Amino acid sequence: MRSKPLKSGSESVVGTPALGRQLRTRPLELTVVVPTFNESTNVELLLGSLYVALEGTEWEVIFVDDDSPDDTAAVVRRLAQRDTRVRCIQRIGRRGLGSAVIEGMLASSAQYMAVIDGDMQHDERLLPLMLATLRDENLDVVIGSRHVAGGGLGNWDIRRATFSKIATKLARSVVPADLADPMSGFFILSRPAFERTVRQLSGQGFKILVDLFASTPIPYRFKEVPYTFRTRLHGESKLDGLIVWQYVMLLLDKWIGRVVPVRFVVFCAVGGSGVISHLLVLSLTLKLFSSFPIAQFFATGVAMTGNFVLNNILTYRDKQLVGKRFLSGLLRFYAICSVGILANVGIASVAFAQNYTWWISGLAGATISVVWNYSVSSIFTWNDE
Ligand code: GDD
Ligand code: MN
Repeated sequence: MRSKPLKSGSESVVGTPALGRQLRTRPLELTVVVPTFNESTNVELLLGSLYVALEGTEWEVIFVDDDSPDDTAAVVRRLAQRDTRVRCIQRIGRRGLGSAVIEGMLASSAQYMAVIDGDMQHDERLLPLMLATLRDENLDVVIGSRHVAGGGLGNWDIRRATFSKIATKLARSVVPADLADPMSGFFILSRPAFERTVRQLSGQGFKILVDLFASTPIPYRFKEVPYTFRTRLHGESKLDGLIVWQYVMLLLDKWIGRVVPVRFVVFCAVGGSGVISHLLVLSLTLKLFSSFPIAQFFATGVAMTGNFVLNNILTYRDKQLVGKRFLSGLLRFYAICSVGILANVGIASVAFAQNYTWWISGLAGATISVVWNYSVSSIFTWNDE
Protein backbone atom coordinates (compact mmCIF):
# COMPACT_ATOMS: atom_id res chain seq x y z
CA MET A 1 0.00 0.00 0.00
CA ARG A 2 1.90 3.07 -1.14
CA SER A 3 2.00 6.29 -3.24
CA LYS A 4 -0.16 9.41 -3.28
CA PRO A 5 -2.25 10.52 -0.25
CA LEU A 6 -6.02 10.20 -0.28
CA LYS A 7 -8.10 13.34 -0.80
CA SER A 8 -10.38 14.12 2.10
CA GLY A 9 -13.62 15.27 0.53
CA SER A 10 -13.84 18.68 2.06
CA GLU A 11 -14.80 20.21 -1.32
CA SER A 12 -18.52 20.88 -0.87
CA VAL A 13 -21.28 19.37 -2.96
CA VAL A 14 -24.03 21.68 -1.65
CA GLY A 15 -24.07 23.53 -4.96
CA THR A 16 -26.17 20.66 -6.32
CA PRO A 17 -29.84 21.52 -5.43
CA ALA A 18 -31.14 17.96 -4.82
CA LEU A 19 -28.35 17.32 -2.33
CA GLY A 20 -29.84 19.97 -0.04
CA ARG A 21 -32.31 17.25 0.99
CA GLN A 22 -29.77 15.06 2.75
CA LEU A 23 -30.94 13.40 5.95
CA ARG A 24 -28.24 14.47 8.35
CA THR A 25 -28.55 17.92 9.81
CA ARG A 26 -25.06 17.76 11.29
CA PRO A 27 -22.09 16.25 9.49
CA LEU A 28 -21.06 12.71 10.33
CA GLU A 29 -18.49 12.85 13.14
CA LEU A 30 -17.62 9.32 14.07
CA THR A 31 -17.47 5.94 12.37
CA VAL A 32 -17.14 3.03 14.74
CA VAL A 33 -15.36 0.16 12.99
CA VAL A 34 -15.98 -3.28 14.46
CA PRO A 35 -14.04 -6.29 13.17
CA THR A 36 -16.04 -9.47 13.70
CA PHE A 37 -15.56 -13.17 13.35
CA ASN A 38 -18.24 -15.39 14.88
CA GLU A 39 -19.77 -12.68 17.04
CA SER A 40 -23.47 -13.23 16.18
CA THR A 41 -24.35 -13.41 19.87
CA ASN A 42 -22.60 -10.12 20.61
CA VAL A 43 -23.36 -7.66 17.83
CA GLU A 44 -26.84 -6.71 18.99
CA LEU A 45 -25.58 -6.17 22.55
CA LEU A 46 -22.78 -3.96 21.27
CA LEU A 47 -25.12 -1.97 19.08
CA GLY A 48 -27.47 -1.40 22.02
CA SER A 49 -24.55 -0.13 24.11
CA LEU A 50 -23.39 2.17 21.32
CA TYR A 51 -26.86 3.74 21.14
CA VAL A 52 -26.57 4.63 24.81
CA ALA A 53 -22.91 5.66 24.80
CA LEU A 54 -23.03 7.81 21.67
CA GLU A 55 -26.27 9.67 22.31
CA GLY A 56 -25.78 13.22 21.00
CA THR A 57 -22.99 12.29 18.57
CA GLU A 58 -23.46 11.96 14.78
CA TRP A 59 -22.15 8.42 14.35
CA GLU A 60 -22.40 5.25 12.31
CA VAL A 61 -21.06 1.76 12.80
CA ILE A 62 -19.40 -0.49 10.21
CA PHE A 63 -19.07 -4.16 11.05
CA VAL A 64 -16.38 -5.84 8.96
CA ASP A 65 -17.06 -9.55 9.00
CA ASP A 66 -14.88 -12.24 7.46
CA ASP A 67 -17.72 -14.48 6.32
CA SER A 68 -18.24 -15.92 9.81
CA PRO A 69 -19.74 -19.43 9.79
CA ASP A 70 -22.18 -18.31 12.52
CA ASP A 71 -23.71 -15.78 10.09
CA THR A 72 -22.69 -12.66 11.99
CA ALA A 73 -23.05 -10.72 8.72
CA ALA A 74 -26.70 -11.74 8.37
CA VAL A 75 -27.40 -10.62 11.93
CA VAL A 76 -25.76 -7.25 11.24
CA ARG A 77 -27.72 -6.80 8.01
CA ARG A 78 -30.96 -7.49 9.88
CA LEU A 79 -30.08 -4.74 12.34
CA ALA A 80 -29.07 -2.47 9.47
CA GLN A 81 -32.52 -2.82 7.91
CA ARG A 82 -33.89 -0.87 10.83
CA ASP A 83 -31.15 1.77 11.00
CA THR A 84 -29.04 3.11 8.16
CA ARG A 85 -26.32 4.06 10.65
CA VAL A 86 -25.49 0.35 10.75
CA ARG A 87 -23.50 -1.11 7.86
CA CYS A 88 -21.86 -4.41 7.08
CA ILE A 89 -18.84 -5.25 4.98
CA GLN A 90 -18.64 -8.98 4.38
CA ARG A 91 -15.27 -10.23 3.15
CA ILE A 92 -15.09 -13.62 1.50
CA GLY A 93 -11.96 -15.80 1.31
CA ARG A 94 -9.93 -13.52 3.56
CA ARG A 95 -9.14 -13.32 7.27
CA GLY A 96 -7.53 -10.81 9.59
CA LEU A 97 -8.48 -8.29 12.23
CA GLY A 98 -5.95 -5.71 11.00
CA SER A 99 -6.95 -5.72 7.35
CA ALA A 100 -10.64 -5.76 8.34
CA VAL A 101 -10.15 -2.57 10.35
CA ILE A 102 -8.34 -0.89 7.45
CA GLU A 103 -11.17 -1.74 5.06
CA GLY A 104 -13.77 -0.48 7.50
CA MET A 105 -11.92 2.83 7.77
CA LEU A 106 -11.65 3.08 4.01
CA ALA A 107 -15.43 2.79 3.82
CA SER A 108 -15.88 5.67 6.27
CA SER A 109 -16.26 9.34 5.43
CA ALA A 110 -16.29 10.60 9.02
CA GLN A 111 -13.69 12.94 10.51
CA TYR A 112 -12.94 10.46 13.30
CA MET A 113 -12.81 6.68 13.30
CA ALA A 114 -13.04 4.45 16.35
CA VAL A 115 -12.06 0.79 16.49
CA ILE A 116 -13.66 -1.48 19.04
CA ASP A 117 -13.94 -5.26 19.40
CA GLY A 118 -17.30 -6.82 18.66
CA ASP A 119 -17.36 -8.92 21.83
CA MET A 120 -18.04 -6.28 24.52
CA GLN A 121 -14.55 -6.64 26.05
CA HIS A 122 -13.73 -2.99 25.41
CA ASP A 123 -15.52 -0.26 27.33
CA GLU A 124 -17.68 1.55 24.78
CA ARG A 125 -18.79 4.05 27.47
CA LEU A 126 -15.37 5.71 27.09
CA LEU A 127 -15.95 6.62 23.45
CA PRO A 128 -17.38 10.13 24.09
CA LEU A 129 -14.45 11.00 26.37
CA MET A 130 -11.98 9.63 23.82
CA LEU A 131 -13.61 11.63 21.03
CA ALA A 132 -13.68 14.84 23.08
CA THR A 133 -10.02 14.42 24.07
CA LEU A 134 -9.00 13.83 20.46
CA ARG A 135 -10.86 16.88 19.26
CA ASP A 136 -10.17 19.29 22.13
CA GLU A 137 -6.47 18.53 22.37
CA ASN A 138 -6.08 18.34 18.62
CA LEU A 139 -4.51 14.86 18.71
CA ASP A 140 -4.11 12.15 16.08
CA VAL A 141 -4.98 9.12 18.21
CA VAL A 142 -6.60 8.47 21.57
CA ILE A 143 -6.09 4.97 22.89
CA GLY A 144 -8.01 2.92 25.42
CA SER A 145 -5.14 1.58 27.51
CA ARG A 146 -4.91 -1.22 30.06
CA HIS A 147 -1.46 -0.14 31.18
CA VAL A 148 -1.94 3.41 32.46
CA ALA A 149 -3.07 4.28 35.98
CA GLY A 150 -6.69 3.27 36.39
CA GLY A 151 -6.65 0.66 33.62
CA GLY A 152 -6.42 -3.10 33.94
CA LEU A 153 -6.33 -6.50 32.31
CA GLY A 154 -9.45 -7.81 34.02
CA ASN A 155 -9.10 -11.48 34.86
CA TRP A 156 -6.33 -12.53 32.49
CA ASP A 157 -4.39 -15.65 33.39
CA ILE A 158 -0.67 -15.34 33.97
CA ARG A 159 0.15 -16.99 30.63
CA ARG A 160 -1.75 -14.48 28.55
CA ALA A 161 -0.52 -11.56 30.64
CA THR A 162 3.09 -12.70 30.12
CA PHE A 163 2.62 -13.11 26.37
CA SER A 164 1.11 -9.65 26.20
CA LYS A 165 4.07 -8.22 28.12
CA ILE A 166 6.60 -9.82 25.73
CA ALA A 167 4.62 -8.68 22.69
CA THR A 168 4.51 -5.13 24.10
CA LYS A 169 8.30 -5.15 24.60
CA LEU A 170 8.80 -6.40 21.03
CA ALA A 171 6.57 -3.63 19.71
CA ARG A 172 9.17 -1.14 20.96
CA SER A 173 11.47 -2.26 18.15
CA VAL A 174 9.11 -0.89 15.52
CA VAL A 175 7.08 1.72 17.41
CA PRO A 176 9.16 4.81 18.17
CA ALA A 177 6.48 6.35 20.42
CA ASP A 178 6.41 5.76 24.15
CA LEU A 179 3.13 3.93 24.19
CA ALA A 180 2.05 1.98 27.29
CA ASP A 181 -0.42 -0.29 25.47
CA PRO A 182 0.49 -0.69 21.78
CA MET A 183 -1.40 -4.04 21.79
CA SER A 184 -4.71 -2.26 22.35
CA GLY A 185 -7.38 -2.78 19.75
CA PHE A 186 -9.51 0.04 21.15
CA PHE A 187 -8.79 3.57 19.93
CA ILE A 188 -9.98 6.61 17.96
CA LEU A 189 -8.00 7.97 15.04
CA SER A 190 -8.43 11.21 13.11
CA ARG A 191 -8.97 11.08 9.35
CA PRO A 192 -5.79 12.99 8.41
CA ALA A 193 -3.72 10.66 10.62
CA PHE A 194 -5.27 7.65 8.88
CA GLU A 195 -4.90 9.03 5.40
CA ARG A 196 -1.25 9.83 5.70
CA THR A 197 -0.51 6.31 6.96
CA VAL A 198 -2.86 4.01 5.09
CA ARG A 199 -0.59 3.29 2.13
CA GLN A 200 2.30 2.25 4.34
CA LEU A 201 0.33 -0.23 6.46
CA SER A 202 1.16 -3.93 6.49
CA GLY A 203 -2.36 -5.05 7.35
CA GLN A 204 -0.92 -8.25 8.84
CA GLY A 205 -2.51 -10.00 11.78
CA PHE A 206 -4.19 -8.70 14.93
CA LYS A 207 -2.19 -5.65 15.94
CA ILE A 208 -3.47 -2.74 13.91
CA LEU A 209 -2.34 -0.09 16.41
CA VAL A 210 1.29 -1.30 16.24
CA ASP A 211 0.98 -1.27 12.46
CA LEU A 212 -0.32 2.33 12.47
CA PHE A 213 2.34 3.66 14.86
CA ALA A 214 5.13 1.83 13.03
CA SER A 215 3.96 3.07 9.63
CA THR A 216 3.09 6.73 10.12
CA PRO A 217 5.51 9.04 8.32
CA ILE A 218 4.98 11.76 10.99
CA PRO A 219 4.87 10.67 14.67
CA TYR A 220 1.32 10.68 16.03
CA ARG A 221 0.25 13.06 18.77
CA PHE A 222 -1.54 10.70 21.13
CA LYS A 223 -2.96 10.15 24.58
CA GLU A 224 -3.92 7.01 26.45
CA VAL A 225 -7.02 6.79 28.61
CA PRO A 226 -7.45 3.96 31.11
CA TYR A 227 -9.99 1.18 30.81
CA THR A 228 -10.34 -2.32 32.19
CA PHE A 229 -10.57 -5.24 29.78
CA ARG A 230 -13.89 -7.00 30.35
CA THR A 231 -14.47 -10.73 30.49
CA ARG A 232 -15.97 -12.22 27.36
CA LEU A 233 -19.51 -13.38 28.07
CA HIS A 234 -20.48 -14.86 24.69
CA GLY A 235 -18.55 -16.52 21.88
CA GLU A 236 -14.86 -17.38 21.84
CA SER A 237 -11.57 -15.52 21.49
CA LYS A 238 -9.79 -16.02 18.16
CA LEU A 239 -6.40 -15.66 19.72
CA ASP A 240 -4.33 -18.78 18.99
CA GLY A 241 -0.70 -19.74 18.39
CA LEU A 242 -0.86 -18.57 14.81
CA ILE A 243 -1.82 -15.07 15.89
CA VAL A 244 1.58 -14.93 17.57
CA TRP A 245 3.12 -15.99 14.26
CA GLN A 246 1.24 -13.25 12.43
CA TYR A 247 2.57 -10.73 14.92
CA VAL A 248 6.09 -11.91 14.08
CA MET A 249 5.23 -11.43 10.37
CA LEU A 250 4.10 -7.87 11.10
CA LEU A 251 7.34 -7.10 12.96
CA LEU A 252 9.40 -8.71 10.16
CA ASP A 253 7.56 -6.61 7.61
CA LYS A 254 8.42 -3.46 9.53
CA TRP A 255 12.06 -4.53 9.90
CA ILE A 256 12.82 -5.77 6.37
CA GLY A 257 9.66 -5.21 4.32
CA ARG A 258 11.16 -2.27 2.43
CA VAL A 259 13.97 -4.46 1.12
CA VAL A 260 12.23 -7.75 0.48
CA PRO A 261 8.60 -8.89 0.90
CA VAL A 262 8.13 -10.89 4.11
CA ARG A 263 5.99 -13.44 2.33
CA PHE A 264 8.89 -14.18 0.01
CA VAL A 265 11.25 -14.69 2.95
CA VAL A 266 8.81 -17.08 4.61
CA PHE A 267 8.20 -18.85 1.30
CA CYS A 268 11.99 -19.40 0.92
CA ALA A 269 12.26 -20.66 4.51
CA VAL A 270 9.44 -23.13 3.83
CA GLY A 271 11.27 -24.12 0.61
CA GLY A 272 14.43 -24.73 2.66
CA SER A 273 12.53 -27.00 5.03
CA GLY A 274 11.20 -28.76 1.89
CA VAL A 275 14.75 -29.54 0.76
CA ILE A 276 15.52 -31.11 4.14
CA SER A 277 12.33 -33.19 4.20
CA HIS A 278 13.03 -34.22 0.59
CA LEU A 279 16.47 -35.59 1.52
CA LEU A 280 15.11 -37.35 4.61
CA VAL A 281 12.29 -39.01 2.71
CA LEU A 282 14.65 -39.88 -0.14
CA SER A 283 17.08 -41.65 2.16
CA LEU A 284 14.20 -43.62 3.73
CA THR A 285 12.47 -44.54 0.50
CA LEU A 286 15.72 -45.60 -1.12
CA LYS A 287 15.85 -48.30 1.48
CA LEU A 288 12.29 -49.38 0.63
CA PHE A 289 12.40 -49.20 -3.17
CA SER A 290 15.56 -50.16 -4.91
CA SER A 291 14.79 -47.78 -7.79
CA PHE A 292 16.23 -44.27 -7.42
CA PRO A 293 13.71 -42.57 -9.78
CA ILE A 294 10.77 -43.98 -7.81
CA ALA A 295 12.27 -42.88 -4.49
CA GLN A 296 13.06 -39.44 -5.91
CA PHE A 297 9.52 -39.12 -7.29
CA PHE A 298 8.05 -40.05 -3.94
CA ALA A 299 10.32 -37.67 -2.00
CA THR A 300 9.46 -34.82 -4.39
CA GLY A 301 5.74 -35.44 -3.84
CA VAL A 302 6.12 -35.40 -0.07
CA ALA A 303 8.23 -32.22 -0.15
CA MET A 304 5.78 -30.39 -2.46
CA THR A 305 2.78 -31.40 -0.35
CA GLY A 306 4.56 -30.37 2.85
CA ASN A 307 5.52 -27.03 1.33
CA PHE A 308 1.95 -26.40 0.24
CA VAL A 309 0.55 -27.16 3.70
CA LEU A 310 3.13 -24.98 5.45
CA ASN A 311 2.69 -22.09 3.03
CA ASN A 312 -1.05 -22.34 3.42
CA ILE A 313 -0.73 -22.08 7.21
CA LEU A 314 2.22 -19.71 7.60
CA THR A 315 2.82 -17.67 4.46
CA TYR A 316 -0.79 -17.20 3.44
CA ARG A 317 -2.70 -17.53 6.69
CA ASP A 318 -4.83 -14.52 5.78
CA LYS A 319 -5.89 -16.27 2.56
CA GLN A 320 -5.82 -19.82 3.86
CA LEU A 321 -7.48 -22.32 1.53
CA VAL A 322 -9.88 -24.76 3.17
CA GLY A 323 -12.17 -27.57 1.97
CA LYS A 324 -12.52 -27.85 -1.80
CA ARG A 325 -10.31 -24.81 -2.36
CA PHE A 326 -7.53 -26.58 -0.42
CA LEU A 327 -7.60 -29.50 -2.88
CA SER A 328 -7.75 -27.39 -6.04
CA GLY A 329 -5.01 -25.16 -4.63
CA LEU A 330 -2.84 -28.22 -3.94
CA LEU A 331 -3.25 -29.48 -7.51
CA ARG A 332 -2.37 -26.05 -8.88
CA PHE A 333 0.65 -25.90 -6.60
CA TYR A 334 1.86 -29.30 -7.92
CA ALA A 335 1.51 -28.04 -11.49
CA ILE A 336 3.37 -24.78 -10.77
CA CYS A 337 6.20 -26.52 -8.88
CA SER A 338 6.58 -29.10 -11.66
CA VAL A 339 7.29 -26.29 -14.11
CA GLY A 340 9.66 -24.85 -11.46
CA ILE A 341 11.55 -28.15 -11.32
CA LEU A 342 11.88 -28.25 -15.13
CA ALA A 343 13.17 -24.67 -15.16
CA ASN A 344 15.55 -25.48 -12.31
CA VAL A 345 17.07 -28.51 -14.05
CA GLY A 346 17.12 -26.72 -17.43
CA ILE A 347 18.88 -23.56 -16.21
CA ALA A 348 21.33 -25.48 -14.01
CA SER A 349 22.26 -27.83 -16.87
CA VAL A 350 22.79 -24.95 -19.31
CA ALA A 351 24.97 -23.11 -16.76
CA PHE A 352 26.95 -26.26 -16.04
CA ALA A 353 27.46 -26.89 -19.76
CA GLN A 354 28.84 -23.31 -19.98
CA ASN A 355 31.54 -24.36 -17.53
CA TYR A 356 30.17 -22.71 -14.40
CA THR A 357 31.07 -24.63 -11.25
CA TRP A 358 28.53 -27.15 -9.98
CA TRP A 359 27.34 -25.04 -7.05
CA ILE A 360 26.86 -21.85 -9.06
CA SER A 361 24.91 -23.82 -11.65
CA GLY A 362 22.86 -25.52 -8.95
CA LEU A 363 22.17 -22.23 -7.16
CA ALA A 364 21.12 -20.51 -10.38
CA GLY A 365 18.61 -23.29 -11.10
CA ALA A 366 17.26 -23.27 -7.54
CA THR A 367 16.92 -19.45 -7.49
CA ILE A 368 15.00 -19.39 -10.75
CA SER A 369 12.64 -22.09 -9.53
CA VAL A 370 11.93 -20.49 -6.14
CA VAL A 371 11.22 -17.10 -7.74
CA TRP A 372 8.96 -18.81 -10.29
CA ASN A 373 7.15 -20.89 -7.66
CA TYR A 374 6.63 -17.87 -5.42
CA SER A 375 5.40 -15.43 -8.03
CA VAL A 376 3.14 -17.82 -9.90
CA SER A 377 1.67 -19.53 -6.83
CA SER A 378 0.99 -16.16 -5.20
CA ILE A 379 -1.29 -15.36 -8.12
CA PHE A 380 -2.73 -18.75 -9.10
CA THR A 381 -2.80 -20.58 -5.78
CA TRP A 382 -3.43 -17.90 -3.17
CA ASN A 383 -4.72 -15.09 -5.38
CA ASP A 384 -2.40 -12.43 -4.07
CA GLU A 385 -2.95 -8.93 -5.42
N1 GDD B 1 -13.01 -9.42 10.57
C1 GDD B 1 -12.31 -10.15 11.45
N2 GDD B 1 -11.43 -11.07 10.95
N3 GDD B 1 -12.47 -9.97 12.77
C2 GDD B 1 -11.74 -10.74 13.61
C3 GDD B 1 -10.83 -11.71 13.18
C4 GDD B 1 -10.68 -11.89 11.75
O1 GDD B 1 -9.91 -12.71 11.27
N4 GDD B 1 -10.28 -12.30 14.27
C5 GDD B 1 -10.84 -11.70 15.34
N5 GDD B 1 -11.73 -10.77 14.95
C6 GDD B 1 -12.56 -9.91 15.79
C7 GDD B 1 -13.32 -10.64 16.87
O2 GDD B 1 -14.58 -11.10 16.41
C8 GDD B 1 -13.45 -9.56 17.93
O3 GDD B 1 -14.52 -8.68 17.63
C9 GDD B 1 -12.15 -8.80 17.79
O4 GDD B 1 -11.70 -9.03 16.46
C10 GDD B 1 -11.10 -9.24 18.80
O5 GDD B 1 -10.91 -10.62 18.70
P1 GDD B 1 -10.83 -11.56 19.99
O6 GDD B 1 -10.59 -12.95 19.51
O7 GDD B 1 -11.96 -11.30 20.90
O8 GDD B 1 -9.48 -11.01 20.60
P2 GDD B 1 -8.97 -10.98 22.08
O9 GDD B 1 -10.03 -10.60 23.03
O10 GDD B 1 -8.25 -12.21 22.35
O11 GDD B 1 -7.87 -9.82 21.88
C11 GDD B 1 -8.12 -8.56 22.20
O12 GDD B 1 -7.08 -8.09 22.99
C12 GDD B 1 -6.03 -7.50 22.38
C13 GDD B 1 -5.21 -6.90 23.46
O13 GDD B 1 -4.15 -7.69 23.73
C14 GDD B 1 -8.42 -7.65 21.03
O14 GDD B 1 -9.07 -6.55 21.57
C15 GDD B 1 -7.33 -7.04 20.33
O15 GDD B 1 -7.86 -6.01 19.48
C16 GDD B 1 -6.44 -6.47 21.37
O16 GDD B 1 -5.35 -5.97 20.70
MN1 MN C 1 -12.02 -10.43 22.73
